[in-house]
Amino acid sequence: AESAPTICGMPLKYFSLITLAVQNAALSIVMHYSRVSTPAAQSYSPAAAVLLNELLKGSISFVIAFLRVADASDASRRGVMGWLSALQRVSREIFSPDCWKLSIPALLYVVQNSLQFVAVGNLPVATFQVTYQMKILTTAAFSVMLLRRKLSSTKWLSLLFLAIGVGIVQIQSSSSSHIPSRQNHPVGSAHESAPLHIHIMSPLKGFGAVTAACFTSGLAGVYFEMVLKNSKADLWVRNVQLSLFSLPPAILPIIWNADPRIYQDGIIASVLRNFGGWAWATVSVQVLGGLITAIVIKYSDNIMKGFATSLSIVLSFLASVALFGFRITPSFVIGSTTVLAATWMYNQPPGQELVAITNVLPV
Ligand code: C5P
Repeated sequence: AESAPTICGMPLKYFSLITLAVQNAALSIVMHYSRVSTPAAQSYSPAAAVLLNELLKGSISFVIAFLRVADASDASRRGVMGWLSALQRVSREIFSPDCWKLSIPALLYVVQNSLQFVAVGNLPVATFQVTYQMKILTTAAFSVMLLRRKLSSTKWLSLLFLAIGVGIVQIQSSSSSHIPSRQNHPVGSAHESAPLHIHIMSPLKGFGAVTAACFTSGLAGVYFEMVLKNSKADLWVRNVQLSLFSLPPAILPIIWNADPRIYQDGIIASVLRNFGGWAWATVSVQVLGGLITAIVIKYSDNIMKGFATSLSIVLSFLASVALFGFRITPSFVIGSTTVLAATWMYNQPPGQELVAITNVLPV
């Protein structure tokens, strides 16, 4: 059996859950600014961002998969032939007969990553984050259906409380910052004093996109977990397969909407048109998120992933209190207490949940 890996003495399971929490807090903010900080005519193509995300994630995963195979076969001591045979072995693993299984989550994730851009561009950050919490429930539902995971009614109740609690925290965090959501550039950022660009939002489109993204998130995550845990194939090989199957659906919209300038400027220049610092930051945070998500799914599961991201929202508000002087409001206290209680309730041993609750209630 594989021994549990550690980073700086901390089990990778906890390290990845914490890193994912921080990454999640950063992504929706960076992505939102990248969409609304420039006029629509000068904004980058989300399809290009989705494609770059897959290319980068796939390349990083390939390098890791290759180095792992090379290390296991002691390639460095066997010279060029050693490296070549490692390359051959990793290619054989990537193009294994069951690689097609990854085509399903690959397609779902490409759809989800594109829907996220539609949602983020049409809803204020907090509204997007609140509604996106529905994925906690869709993920649990798909875990029960596909992984045959048993969830007691107390666990379902704690997941519902988690989604409600994190929703309350987010609704109030947008109002307590007193910054209109469409223009809420970070305090002290270059955008704070910059002229505001008009970016027309369509909340109905945003809500439709976020609802669909919740379903693809739950299904794709659980499907990936099922493929990963039902076979011996390496995580990084599975990630390369996922990225490879993501390429056709990611390239299709780029070809479909190709600008006539593509013939003059070439594909790369056209795809990268208007790709500024915010766009690169969005892609980098997404790549990091994809890699950590894969680790979290392997060493924990999709439901624990939901708890990590919910706690991150509570922590990022507390950070804003410390850094930007946000005020702690009664609804923050109610929302975060609900999140903490839900986390604790979910993690009680079976049959002990209600006993534990009555022990802390003053009855
Ligand atoms: O919102 P959610 O947690 O479902 O998002 C998961 C993200 O992680 C998606 O952007 C998806 O593309 C990415 N991912 C990945 N590799 C995996 C699993 C998820 O890049 N193995």
